[in-house]
Amino acid sequence: MKETDKINAAADGLKERLPAGYETGIILGSGLGNFGKTIERDLTIPYEEIPHFPVSTVEGHQGALIFGTAGGKKVVAMSGRFHFYEGYSMQEVVFPVRVMKQIGVKTLFVSNAAGGMNPEFDLGDLMLIRDHINLQPENPLRGPNLQEFGPRFPNMAQAYDPDLLKLAENTAGSLGILLRKGVYIGVPGPTFETPSEYRMFHLMGADAVGMSTVPEVIVARHMDMRVFAVSVISDMGYPPEKADHVTHEFVLQKAAEAEPRLTALLTRMLEKL
Ligand code: HPA
Repeated sequence: MKETDKINAAADGLKERLPAGYETGIILGSGLGNFGKTIERDLTIPYEEIPHFPVSTVEGHQGALIFGTAGGKKVVAMSGRFHFYEGYSMQEVVFPVRVMKQIGVKTLFVSNAAGGMNPEFDLGDLMLIRDHINLQPENPLRGPNLQEFGPRFPNMAQAYDPDLLKLAENTAGSLGILLRKGVYIGVPGPTFETPSEYRMFHLMGADAVGMSTVPEVIVARHMDMRVFAVSVISDMGYPPEKADHVTHEFVLQKAAEAEPRLTALLTRMLEKL
Protein backbone atom coordinates (compact mmCIF):
# COMPACT_ATOMS: atom_id res chain seq x y z
CA MET A 1 0.00 0.00 0.00
CA LYS A 2 1.31 3.45 -0.86
CA GLU A 3 2.20 5.72 2.06
CA THR A 4 -0.30 8.34 0.90
CA ASP A 5 -3.10 5.75 0.86
CA LYS A 6 -2.28 4.72 4.44
CA ILE A 7 -2.28 8.35 5.58
CA ASN A 8 -5.58 9.01 3.86
CA ALA A 9 -7.14 5.83 5.26
CA ALA A 10 -6.17 6.90 8.78
CA ALA A 11 -7.52 10.41 8.20
CA ASP A 12 -10.77 9.02 6.75
CA GLY A 13 -11.15 6.77 9.80
CA LEU A 14 -10.94 9.84 12.04
CA LYS A 15 -13.20 11.97 9.85
CA GLU A 16 -15.93 9.34 10.14
CA ARG A 17 -15.93 9.78 13.92
CA LEU A 18 -15.44 13.54 14.23
CA PRO A 19 -16.55 16.78 12.60
CA ALA A 20 -13.95 19.03 10.94
CA GLY A 21 -12.45 22.03 12.70
CA TYR A 22 -9.58 20.70 14.82
CA GLU A 23 -7.00 23.14 13.52
CA THR A 24 -4.24 22.93 16.13
CA GLY A 25 -2.22 19.77 16.65
CA ILE A 26 -0.29 19.19 19.86
CA ILE A 27 2.46 16.65 20.52
CA LEU A 28 3.23 16.13 24.18
CA GLY A 29 6.71 15.05 25.26
CA SER A 30 7.99 12.69 27.94
CA GLY A 31 6.61 13.59 31.37
CA LEU A 32 4.56 16.35 29.76
CA GLY A 33 1.29 14.50 29.16
CA ASN A 34 -0.62 16.44 31.80
CA PHE A 35 -1.72 19.11 29.33
CA GLY A 36 -3.88 16.38 27.82
CA LYS A 37 -5.88 16.20 31.04
CA THR A 38 -6.79 19.90 30.77
CA ILE A 39 -8.40 19.42 27.37
CA GLU A 40 -12.21 19.41 27.51
CA ARG A 41 -12.58 16.20 25.63
CA ASP A 42 -14.85 15.50 22.72
CA LEU A 43 -13.35 12.11 22.00
CA THR A 44 -10.22 10.12 22.86
CA ILE A 45 -9.15 7.65 20.23
CA PRO A 46 -6.51 5.04 21.13
CA TYR A 47 -3.91 4.61 18.43
CA GLU A 48 -4.94 0.95 17.99
CA GLU A 49 -8.29 2.14 16.64
CA ILE A 50 -6.78 4.27 13.87
CA PRO A 51 -5.95 2.42 10.64
CA HIS A 52 -2.19 2.06 10.02
CA PHE A 53 -1.24 4.05 13.15
CA PRO A 54 1.87 2.82 14.98
CA VAL A 55 1.35 1.95 18.67
CA SER A 56 3.52 3.55 21.38
CA THR A 57 5.60 1.61 23.88
CA VAL A 58 7.57 3.99 26.12
CA GLU A 59 6.83 4.48 29.80
CA GLY A 60 5.25 7.88 30.44
CA HIS A 61 3.39 7.82 27.12
CA GLN A 62 -0.22 6.75 26.72
CA GLY A 63 -0.97 6.30 23.08
CA ALA A 64 -4.11 8.14 22.06
CA LEU A 65 -5.31 11.09 20.06
CA ILE A 66 -7.27 13.46 22.27
CA PHE A 67 -9.82 15.62 20.46
CA GLY A 68 -11.30 18.52 22.37
CA THR A 69 -11.07 22.16 23.40
CA ALA A 70 -8.16 23.93 25.10
CA GLY A 71 -7.83 27.68 25.50
CA GLY A 72 -11.11 27.95 23.60
CA LYS A 73 -9.66 26.29 20.48
CA LYS A 74 -10.38 22.92 18.94
CA VAL A 75 -7.25 20.84 19.31
CA VAL A 76 -6.05 17.34 18.60
CA ALA A 77 -3.30 16.18 20.94
CA MET A 78 -1.07 13.17 20.63
CA SER A 79 -0.62 11.66 24.03
CA GLY A 80 2.43 9.52 23.34
CA ARG A 81 4.66 9.98 20.35
CA PHE A 82 6.83 7.63 18.32
CA HIS A 83 10.58 7.84 18.65
CA PHE A 84 13.20 6.64 16.21
CA TYR A 85 15.09 4.90 19.07
CA GLU A 86 12.12 2.65 19.71
CA GLY A 87 12.76 1.09 16.32
CA TYR A 88 10.05 2.85 14.35
CA SER A 89 10.91 3.89 10.85
CA MET A 90 10.96 7.60 10.14
CA GLN A 91 7.75 7.08 8.12
CA GLU A 92 6.10 5.77 11.30
CA VAL A 93 7.53 8.54 13.49
CA VAL A 94 5.95 11.23 11.31
CA PHE A 95 2.78 9.37 10.30
CA PRO A 96 0.55 11.12 12.88
CA VAL A 97 1.65 14.55 11.69
CA ARG A 98 0.74 13.63 8.11
CA VAL A 99 -2.65 12.45 9.33
CA MET A 100 -3.17 15.67 11.28
CA LYS A 101 -2.65 17.62 8.09
CA GLN A 102 -5.25 15.53 6.29
CA ILE A 103 -7.88 16.23 8.93
CA GLY A 104 -7.29 19.98 8.69
CA VAL A 105 -4.61 20.83 11.27
CA LYS A 106 -2.83 24.05 10.34
CA THR A 107 -0.68 24.79 13.41
CA LEU A 108 1.47 22.31 15.31
CA PHE A 109 2.58 22.75 18.95
CA VAL A 110 5.36 20.40 20.03
CA SER A 111 6.88 19.80 23.45
CA ASN A 112 9.78 17.67 24.57
CA ALA A 113 12.11 17.03 27.47
CA ALA A 114 15.70 17.90 26.61
CA GLY A 115 19.17 18.09 28.06
CA GLY A 116 20.46 21.64 28.58
CA MET A 117 23.86 22.69 27.25
CA ASN A 118 23.71 26.43 27.70
CA PRO A 119 25.58 27.49 30.87
CA GLU A 120 22.87 30.08 31.59
CA PHE A 121 20.13 27.47 31.74
CA ASP A 122 18.79 25.79 34.86
CA LEU A 123 16.96 22.57 35.45
CA GLY A 124 13.26 22.97 34.75
CA ASP A 125 13.61 25.98 32.42
CA LEU A 126 11.29 26.24 29.43
CA MET A 127 13.19 26.85 26.19
CA LEU A 128 11.44 28.04 23.05
CA ILE A 129 13.00 26.30 20.08
CA ARG A 130 13.99 28.97 17.57
CA ASP A 131 15.87 26.58 15.27
CA HIS A 132 17.14 23.03 15.17
CA ILE A 133 20.08 20.92 14.05
CA ASN A 134 19.19 17.52 12.65
CA LEU A 135 21.61 14.81 13.74
CA GLN A 136 19.18 11.96 13.41
CA PRO A 137 20.53 9.49 10.87
CA GLU A 138 17.65 9.68 8.47
CA ASN A 139 15.54 12.52 7.16
CA PRO A 140 11.83 11.61 7.16
CA LEU A 141 11.52 13.06 3.67
CA ARG A 142 14.11 10.69 2.18
CA GLY A 143 12.66 8.62 -0.62
CA PRO A 144 10.04 9.47 -3.23
CA ASN A 145 8.60 12.90 -2.47
CA LEU A 146 4.93 12.90 -1.47
CA GLN A 147 4.26 15.66 -3.96
CA GLU A 148 0.66 16.20 -2.82
CA PHE A 149 1.99 17.22 0.63
CA GLY A 150 4.87 19.49 -0.32
CA PRO A 151 7.99 20.18 -2.35
CA ARG A 152 11.01 17.91 -2.88
CA PHE A 153 13.41 20.39 -1.27
CA PRO A 154 11.65 22.26 1.54
CA ASN A 155 13.09 25.51 2.81
CA MET A 156 13.90 25.40 6.53
CA ALA A 157 15.00 29.01 7.07
CA GLN A 158 12.08 29.80 9.39
CA ALA A 159 10.92 26.40 10.50
CA TYR A 160 9.75 27.78 13.85
CA ASP A 161 7.10 30.39 13.19
CA PRO A 162 8.38 33.87 14.17
CA ASP A 163 4.88 35.13 15.05
CA LEU A 164 4.27 32.19 17.38
CA LEU A 165 7.66 32.77 19.02
CA LYS A 166 6.64 36.39 19.64
CA LEU A 167 3.26 35.32 20.95
CA ALA A 168 4.97 32.89 23.34
CA GLU A 169 7.31 35.58 24.63
CA ASN A 170 4.50 38.07 25.18
CA THR A 171 2.34 35.43 26.82
CA ALA A 172 5.11 34.24 29.12
CA GLY A 173 5.80 37.87 30.04
CA SER A 174 2.20 38.41 31.13
CA LEU A 175 2.20 35.12 33.06
CA GLY A 176 5.53 35.86 34.75
CA ILE A 177 7.10 32.71 33.30
CA LEU A 178 10.81 32.77 32.56
CA LEU A 179 11.51 31.65 29.02
CA ARG A 180 14.77 30.69 27.40
CA LYS A 181 15.20 30.57 23.66
CA GLY A 182 17.61 28.40 21.77
CA VAL A 183 18.62 25.74 19.29
CA TYR A 184 17.51 22.13 19.72
CA ILE A 185 19.69 19.36 18.39
CA GLY A 186 17.89 16.13 17.53
CA VAL A 187 19.85 12.92 18.08
CA PRO A 188 18.82 9.30 17.57
CA GLY A 189 19.32 8.09 21.17
CA PRO A 190 18.63 5.97 23.12
CA THR A 191 21.88 6.64 25.01
CA PHE A 192 22.12 9.95 26.81
CA GLU A 193 25.23 11.86 25.79
CA THR A 194 28.75 11.40 27.05
CA PRO A 195 30.26 14.54 28.62
CA SER A 196 32.27 15.01 25.40
CA GLU A 197 29.14 14.79 23.27
CA TYR A 198 27.30 17.38 25.36
CA ARG A 199 30.33 19.63 25.01
CA MET A 200 30.51 19.04 21.25
CA PHE A 201 26.83 19.92 20.81
CA HIS A 202 27.35 23.05 22.88
CA LEU A 203 30.28 24.01 20.63
CA MET A 204 28.14 23.29 17.58
CA GLY A 205 25.73 25.95 18.71
CA ALA A 206 22.99 23.88 20.29
CA ASP A 207 21.36 24.80 23.60
CA ALA A 208 19.33 21.65 24.19
CA VAL A 209 19.51 18.04 23.03
CA GLY A 210 16.76 15.49 22.67
CA MET A 211 15.60 12.39 20.83
CA SER A 212 12.42 13.66 19.18
CA THR A 213 10.77 16.70 17.56
CA VAL A 214 13.05 17.22 14.56
CA PRO A 215 11.38 14.64 12.25
CA GLU A 216 7.90 15.84 13.17
CA VAL A 217 8.88 19.46 12.53
CA ILE A 218 10.50 18.63 9.20
CA VAL A 219 7.36 16.91 7.99
CA ALA A 220 5.09 19.66 9.34
CA ARG A 221 7.14 22.24 7.47
CA HIS A 222 7.08 20.10 4.33
CA MET A 223 3.30 20.50 4.50
CA ASP A 224 3.55 24.20 5.34
CA MET A 225 2.08 23.90 8.83
CA ARG A 226 2.93 26.63 11.31
CA VAL A 227 5.21 25.17 13.98
CA PHE A 228 5.83 26.11 17.58
CA ALA A 229 8.02 24.00 19.88
CA VAL A 230 9.18 24.12 23.50
CA SER A 231 11.80 22.09 25.33
CA VAL A 232 11.62 21.53 29.05
CA ILE A 233 15.18 21.37 30.35
CA SER A 234 14.88 18.11 32.25
CA ASP A 235 18.61 17.67 32.89
CA MET A 236 21.79 19.63 32.35
CA GLY A 237 24.56 18.10 30.23
CA TYR A 238 26.96 21.02 29.97
CA PRO A 239 28.89 22.71 31.58
CA PRO A 240 30.37 19.79 33.54
CA GLU A 241 29.89 21.47 36.93
CA LYS A 242 26.14 21.74 36.24
CA ALA A 243 25.76 18.28 34.67
CA ASP A 244 23.23 15.91 36.22
CA HIS A 245 23.42 12.16 36.52
CA VAL A 246 20.68 11.67 33.98
CA THR A 247 18.28 8.72 33.88
CA HIS A 248 14.88 8.32 32.25
CA GLU A 249 13.22 8.61 35.69
CA PHE A 250 15.12 11.84 36.35
CA VAL A 251 13.94 13.25 33.01
CA LEU A 252 10.31 12.28 33.68
CA GLN A 253 10.38 13.77 37.16
CA LYS A 254 11.97 17.09 36.18
CA ALA A 255 9.70 17.40 33.16
CA ALA A 256 6.64 16.77 35.34
CA GLU A 257 7.77 19.45 37.79
CA ALA A 258 7.99 22.04 35.00
CA GLU A 259 4.82 20.86 33.31
CA PRO A 260 2.34 23.28 34.99
CA ARG A 261 4.22 26.25 33.49
CA LEU A 262 4.14 24.64 30.06
CA THR A 263 0.41 23.98 30.33
CA ALA A 264 -0.22 27.58 31.42
CA LEU A 265 1.81 28.90 28.50
CA LEU A 266 0.21 26.68 25.87
CA THR A 267 -3.32 27.31 27.16
CA ARG A 268 -2.90 31.08 27.15
CA MET A 269 -1.28 30.98 23.71
CA LEU A 270 -4.21 28.98 22.34
CA GLU A 271 -6.58 31.63 23.73
CA LYS A 272 -4.70 34.29 21.79
CA LEU A 273 -4.31 32.34 18.52
N1 HPA B 1 19.92 13.94 26.01
C1 HPA B 1 19.14 13.45 25.04
N2 HPA B 1 17.84 13.38 25.12
C2 HPA B 1 17.25 13.86 26.24
C3 HPA B 1 18.00 14.38 27.28
C4 HPA B 1 19.40 14.43 27.16
O1 HPA B 1 20.14 14.87 28.06
N3 HPA B 1 17.12 14.77 28.24
C5 HPA B 1 15.88 14.47 27.78
N4 HPA B 1 15.96 13.92 26.56
